[in-house]
Amino acid sequence: MCGIVGYIGKQQAAPILLDGLEKLEYRGYDSAGIAVYDGEQIGMKKAKGRLKVLSELTHGGETLPGTIGIGHTRWATHGEPSDVNAHPHFNKEQSIVVVHNGIIENYLKLKKKLQAKGYEFVSDTDTEVIAHLLDYYYKGNPLQAITKIMHRMEGSYALGILFQDHPDQLYAVRKDSPLIIGHTEGGCIIASDVPAVLKYTRDVYFIENEEIVCMTADTMEFYNVDEEPIEKSPTHIDWDVDAAEKGGYEHFMLKEMYEQPKAIADTFSPRIRGQEIVIEELDMSEEEIRAVKKIMIVACGSAYHAGVTAKYVIEGMARIPVEVDLASEFRYRDPLIDRDTLLIVISQSGETADTLAALREAKEKGSKVLGIVNVVGSSIAREADTVMYTWAGPEIAVATTKAYSSQLIALYLLAMKFAEVRGVIGKEELHGYIEDLKKLPDQVEMLLNNKNRIQKFANRYLAAKDVFFIGRGIDYAISLEGSLKLKEISYIHSEAYAAGELKHGTISLIEEGTLVAAVLTQEDLYKKMISNMVEVRTRGAFVLAVTNEGNREVERAADYVIYIPQTNRYFTNSLAIIPLQLFGYYISVGRGCDVDKPRNLAKSVTVE
Ligand code: F6R
Repeated sequence: MCGIVGYIGKQQAAPILLDGLEKLEYRGYDSAGIAVYDGEQIGMKKAKGRLKVLSELTHGGETLPGTIGIGHTRWATHGEPSDVNAHPHFNKEQSIVVVHNGIIENYLKLKKKLQAKGYEFVSDTDTEVIAHLLDYYYKGNPLQAITKIMHRMEGSYALGILFQDHPDQLYAVRKDSPLIIGHTEGGCIIASDVPAVLKYTRDVYFIENEEIVCMTADTMEFYNVDEEPIEKSPTHIDWDVDAAEKGGYEHFMLKEMYEQPKAIADTFSPRIRGQEIVIEELDMSEEEIRAVKKIMIVACGSAYHAGVTAKYVIEGMARIPVEVDLASEFRYRDPLIDRDTLLIVISQSGETADTLAALREAKEKGSKVLGIVNVVGSSIAREADTVMYTWAGPEIAVATTKAYSSQLIALYLLAMKFAEVRGVIGKEELHGYIEDLKKLPDQVEMLLNNKNRIQKFANRYLAAKDVFFIGRGIDYAISLEGSLKLKEISYIHSEAYAAGELKHGTISLIEEGTLVAAVLTQEDLYKKMISNMVEVRTRGAFVLAVTNEGNREVERAADYVIYIPQTNRYFTNSLAIIPLQLFGYYISVGRGCDVDKPRNLAKSVTVE
């Protein structure tokens, strides 16, 4: 995700900013920039690509004089990675400058209003809206202007702001995007993450939601959104640099699992307006949505598993036939698709070679291609006819968690939109789904907080040789992903089966003590699943069940039960996958595997 560093003090700011940004490089970024105020004017340099480019451009910061400044590494969200879209962003007079982490959900509405008032935009970013909005409200009092824009902006933000009128002040504010502040010798430093400040201090102030801080070289004053001063006390950080990069978590994978509630909320929030689903980037009229005869979903690995879930969700909710295929198969089978087929490709990296080839194949055959992609400006994002971004932020662990979870959300949104437009569901049903969607972040958080119980259970199976995951319908899709999570990071052989298929061969592999993870979240299939569980249990299997709260009946067929909170039948994957991710993770940790970088695997598979 993007990184912020800001400095005010007695030393030259630019080298400190570059050094701080370097400490945040591990988070991933596509461009970087700094703005430094020398008391007369605010100088700015930005560059697409590595921080090295920016450093060379400024001779390690030396060519930008001034002792107050802000810096940023950008992970593109709104607008391609480019020099222009890189932060910081100015108002027109170049008297206010801003760096921003997060997403301003209502930026289009704000942009239109500002344009109507004569503001001109040079970038495609949501951040530029903030600079102009500050300009609009600024009447000489920075604090007042900041609180005003806080009332207007929806979404998440951590901001570093300089005002030319206030050469001895640096401002910062946050909502739902982290920001910390610490003292340096003779100054103050702000950063989005701990690693950037560790060199200077281990006592930091965590800025809480809707808190503002005004810094000078010697002072830090905190305010709430009503402009009232507040008292804060520092927290002592004793993490080493390695732990700090992971936000205190032991592995990136665990950190990213914990980022799922935010990734989920960030993916649905900008697309829910009141009681409506608005997917502007879909770029399809209602008539075009109604004309879709078939949806074909193509992807690899976990993204394919998200597609398998979507088949059940879209077919069930919107009654459109959905075919799902592995990109590596699709590209060579001369698929039967045409203009009436909507092709959806799903990819975290946006660079997966097979998925990209499948996209090209489909375009050649005349299908419209919608990309569900996490990396803005990636090859798939560029080549697809339209892109629906998942706002998971950069994923570092090879095994996907938060990107997969946000892919599911994007697919639910599409299903809901299509179902409503095609008249398959009414307003009331749609509103019910929207309410369920809004509950998911808290429900996921609750499941994550149950991690100790899963760790205990996982520790009993560190020596397992084979593990089977079974489910029916959507639960089969969850099983596929649960099984992949386990095998790819723990190297334990594991298979997922549609539970009804077991007796057609696989059941012969079950022996005394074999672990079978059974997923049952579909009420109408409980009985069938319980029969399958009894079948394996009578052959000696130890059965772990993941099921909905209240399904007590399952206890007669399972040895260990994990309950997930109630949601509708289509969204259960988002909850059931959490204990399975944790299970795979703790088995991998317990076996001493390299959790974040499993052997033989790459994060982005750009070759066939
Ligand atoms: C598994 C995993 C992979 C990817 C697959 C597709 O945890 O991450 O299976 O899902 O390689 O990658 P993307 O989504 O980048 O196309």
